[in-house]
Amino acid sequence: MDTTNIMKQSTNRSKALCLCLLLTFLFLPSNFGNICTGSQPHTNPSLVTQLDLSQCNISSLQESDFKLHPNLQTLDLSHNLLKQLDFSVFRFNTFLKHLDISYNNLRNINCSSLQFIKDIKHLIMAYNNFDASYLCQEFGYLTKLEHLGLSSKRIQKNDFENIALQEFKSIFLALEELQGYYPGSLRLLKMEKLHVILPQRVFFLIEYFLLDVFTSTTTLEISQFICKDCSLEVMSLIAKQANVSTLILSNIIMPWRYLNILLEGLWKSSVKHLFINGITIIEDFDYISIDVSEGSIESLYIENVMALVFEFYKHPLLIFSEMIVHNLTLSNAELTFFFCPQFPSIFQSLNFANNGLTDGVFQQCRSLPVLRYLNLHNNRLEKLLSLSSMTSTMNSLQHLDVSFNTLYYDRTVQCEWSESLVFLNLSRNKLTESVFECLPNSVEILDLSRNQIKSISKEIKLLAALKEINLALNQLSNIPDCRHMSKTLRVLNIDNNGIFSPSGELFQSCRNVKSISALNNNFVCNCEMRSFVSSMQAFKGEIVGWPTSYNCELPEEFNGIILKDFHLSEVSCNLYLLIAVVVGSVLVVVLLLVFTCKYFDLPWYLRMIFQWLRSKYRVKQVNVTEIQNSKLFHGFISYSQKDGDWVRNILRPNLEKDDGSVRICLHERDFIPGQTIVENIICCIEKSFKSIFVLSPNFLQSEWCHYELFFAQHSLFGKNSDNLILILLEPIPQYLIPNKYSKLKALMKQRTYMEWPKEKAKQGLFWANLRGAMEIDLPVQEGKSL
Ligand SMILES: *[C@@H]1O[C@H](CO)[C@@H](O)[C@H](O)[C@H]1NC(C)=O
Ligand SMILES: *[C@@H]1O[C@H](CO)[C@@H](O)[C@H](O)[C@H]1NC(C)=O
Repeated sequence: MDTTNIMKQSTNRSKALCLCLLLTFLFLPSNFGNICTGSQPHTNPSLVTQLDLSQCNISSLQESDFKLHPNLQTLDLSHNLLKQLDFSVFRFNTFLKHLDISYNNLRNINCSSLQFIKDIKHLIMAYNNFDASYLCQEFGYLTKLEHLGLSSKRIQKNDFENIALQEFKSIFLALEELQGYYPGSLRLLKMEKLHVILPQRVFFLIEYFLLDVFTSTTTLEISQFICKDCSLEVMSLIAKQANVSTLILSNIIMPWRYLNILLEGLWKSSVKHLFINGITIIEDFDYISIDVSEGSIESLYIENVMALVFEFYKHPLLIFSEMIVHNLTLSNAELTFFFCPQFPSIFQSLNFANNGLTDGVFQQCRSLPVLRYLNLHNNRLEKLLSLSSMTSTMNSLQHLDVSFNTLYYDRTVQCEWSESLVFLNLSRNKLTESVFECLPNSVEILDLSRNQIKSISKEIKLLAALKEINLALNQLSNIPDCRHMSKTLRVLNIDNNGIFSPSGELFQSCRNVKSISALNNNFVCNCEMRSFVSSMQAFKGEIVGWPTSYNCELPEEFNGIILKDFHLSEVSCNLYLLIAVVVGSVLVVVLLLVFTCKYFDLPWYLRMIFQWLRSKYRVKQVNVTEIQNSKLFHGFISYSQKDGDWVRNILRPNLEKDDGSVRICLHERDFIPGQTIVENIICCIEKSFKSIFVLSPNFLQSEWCHYELFFAQHSLFGKNSDNLILILLEPIPQYLIPNKYSKLKALMKQRTYMEWPKEKAKQGLFWANLRGAMEIDLPVQEGKSL
């Protein structure tokens, strides 16, 4: 590389890129997208398989430029300043398959260096300064070469003889400057397709050249054919002897009259398929009558027509409706109308996409009996009703594409469709749910995407043959009910609707469908979603994008979670279950309570605990020290003699511990002889901190007990009735209590007594409670007697 080179050392690369970028901006502002603009700055060079170095002002190359890219497969060096090329610079690029060195200043090629690109498939060398188009012997060794691009001013005998054995897929010959031709030279080449740019000037033997062009291949493309004043008659004549079956004319500029001459010439040639892609009509545009009845041409494709003139008496396009061809395409041709052929035509396929056709097209047209395919994509159709009546006269119509129009249906009149229609593309129109009342019953593939459908009405039942339906990009709020759809339905697409809370039940109704797509529906992950998710998971067919492309959108907490991984507990979703659980728990608690009451006498425990707490609380409240000082005993026990055994054997031993911490006043033990019984009782009561009454039916019958209770009631209760402890040894029916014991009656009613439990297990608590009620420190007395 010399100093002006861009591709220098790898360390200089960024500088070079900047320079190149600058140059690109300065001189070639319209061509971006190659490495000069820095479009591949971060790629690891050894991984690079494609390099676009076009328009980089490169004037020479060296090995080191490509050494870093051992995996390079495609290299574009077009539009540079190369004068010489030694292919040894690609020594390290053994994978190089595509090389474009067009638009340089190459005069010579180092033929012996061709061995370094011996695997090349695609070599474009057109638009250089080669003196001759002679291809040296070494080209013959490029056995993998499939596509070759050359340009030449002069084609001489044997120029191509070294590649005559090769079979090319395509050869591109840029011959706009051709001035001389040795007849037969082109015929040496074997190729599937020849793409040629015709000479601008007529020269000696040009007819031979044209003849060779039209006879050396079956697929011929002629591009950039500007024919303002050219003699097409010669071409037409020559075309009649052609071998070409597919002729492509791209980017041509000519008057309408010439196009017609060309068509007429080609009509009875070998050409079966004529593609005209990009034609600008100049000077005149009027109907010309040419003979386009039966001919060789089966299909005619005219795309991208620009008419610079509009002056006609009879519509020039009429000629196309008279053509006897199977397939006719007039796309992007500014058509606003087309004619119903005068006689039954053989049109099988008509493609009028991207024009301005309106509802009037082909109305009442009965001369399209074999038309199977009609494409009216991107026109100005509005009424679905008119469209349906248009098809009703087309008895063979199977495939109709009317996508990208502004079709709507207003339900005024019943629609009538061709009965043969199986494919209908209504995508991108203004249809609402009323469309289901106006569809061909025979349709198998129906595209209703990009409309304004909110729901699917039951009329869809009528589409008995339906196999595929596309409802993407509508406003559906739920899954369609497949019970209303044909049993034959295989493909259902409901992408991009508003189905945020789909019904699992409806989804299940679609279980016979083979493939369902429901992407991008802003799913709300709530309880209803669970049944949908489980029916999705149970689905046997294909769900497009499942599971990774189905996420929760709302609520926020679940946003982004894949539907498959979304869980909510059964209880939080099922009201009945929730009720059952609550009722169940309550029932269990109640049963447990009943059980414990029944078998463990819970109320008794509760009462005991309550008593215990109360006595604890009260002990704190009384002026303990004052009372303490005046008392000798912890308790006085009043009982009937008939209960004496219990008191002596059970009550006393349990209260009076051996350590003497609890002292009891018992009349048979502690009563002072000499004093009357009454005095003794009073004394005992007064010296005791608590009075314990052992209540039983016996108690009520004992006269003494009555006294004792009376005293206790009157002497003590008044001051501190809390000092009374009632133990209910045996139940006492209320009626047995005499009225004079009103206090006892009241106490019994309030149940402020401790019941003696017969069960051993409960007695521990009883004692603890009783001791708790008596818990108080009395001054230690030496003598226990009064
Ligand atoms: C003509 O149109 C039919 C129907 O669309 C199609 O099947 C066929 O391939 C077309 N023929 C050619 C040569 O393009
Ligand atoms: C219907 O037409 C649209 C173009 O508007 C196209 O994208 C779509 O694939 C067509 N549908 C079918 C089923 O071919």
